[in-house]
Amino acid sequence: MARLLLGLLLLASLSTVLASIVDSCASDLSAMIDGAGGVDDSKLNASSIYSESYSPAHSRLTATSSWLRVYSDSEPWLQVEFEASMPIIAIDTKGYSSYYVTEYKISHSMDGLTWIWYENDASPRVFSGSLNDSSVLIRNYFDPPIEASFLRLHPVAWNEHPGVKWELYTCDTYTTESETTSANDMHTTDPETTSANDMHTTEPENISANDMHTTKPETTSANDMHTTEPDTTSTCRIA
Ligand SMILES: *[C@@H]1O[C@H](CO)[C@@H](O)[C@H](O)[C@H]1NC(C)=O
Ligand SMILES: *[C@@H]1O[C@H](CO)[C@@H](O)[C@H](O)[C@H]1NC(C)=O
Ligand SMILES: *[C@@H]1O[C@H](CO)[C@@H](O)[C@H](O)[C@H]1NC(C)=O
Repeated sequence: MARLLLGLLLLASLSTVLASIVDSCASDLSAMIDGAGGVDDSKLNASSIYSESYSPAHSRLTATSSWLRVYSDSEPWLQVEFEASMPIIAIDTKGYSSYYVTEYKISHSMDGLTWIWYENDASPRVFSGSLNDSSVLIRNYFDPPIEASFLRLHPVAWNEHPGVKWELYTCDTYTTESETTSANDMHTTDPETTSANDMHTTEPENISANDMHTTKPETTSANDMHTTEPDTTSTCRIA
């Protein structure tokens, strides 16, 4: 009983710490795909490409079109690779024309081989994208942040076609345990914060890349879209 109470108290204090990471970072976000800190087109890839006009390079928010898969691709994903493992704090998505993703999942990897779902209550978390309109930018936060070199967006439900444009954000003031911090660094992460992140990390031994791909998306067509409950659990949305 005492153990349980202690556990509950610990959980309560951890969620306070986690909330503060995202809160303190929300005003300090740097784009990871486009712009000065962004990646080359060669770092963007996908499960399939409808045509060169809809290649992953067109998934940048600044592009005129978007990424589109081929119709026969039943498990589509859009991928970005970074030079090094980075804390990923937030994601923006939008669509193109009448094509937009209403729900998506996120997986991530350190090596591009072993992929881990971003989970919520031990199952892949379903994020809400645009519900109405391809031109509205929808933001979601990763709380806890993702630490990875590769990230994939897996469309789950969409309008007409899963057209995706996106941006990911890191936080300049977020530091991890592994980084060396100087005495002058005001933004050192304390041990509680680090253990909070560890706590939510899925054990890589348990979930292999093969396991992941056997999980079918719950909904894959626009028709199914309206029967799916939007994820309201902990999404922080700025429309
Ligand atoms: C991009 O992904 C495809 C699978 O869709 C794969 O065959 C190809 O090797 C990847 N390209 C790079 C540069 O990683
Ligand atoms: C959908 O569009 C309608 C009309 O523009 C708007 O009132 C509503 O807030 C939108 N809903 C969502 C979830 O974006
Ligand atoms: C993790 O591995 C254990 C032992 O093999 C197994 O019982 C459990 O179901 C696995 N969990 C997941 C999420 O795969």
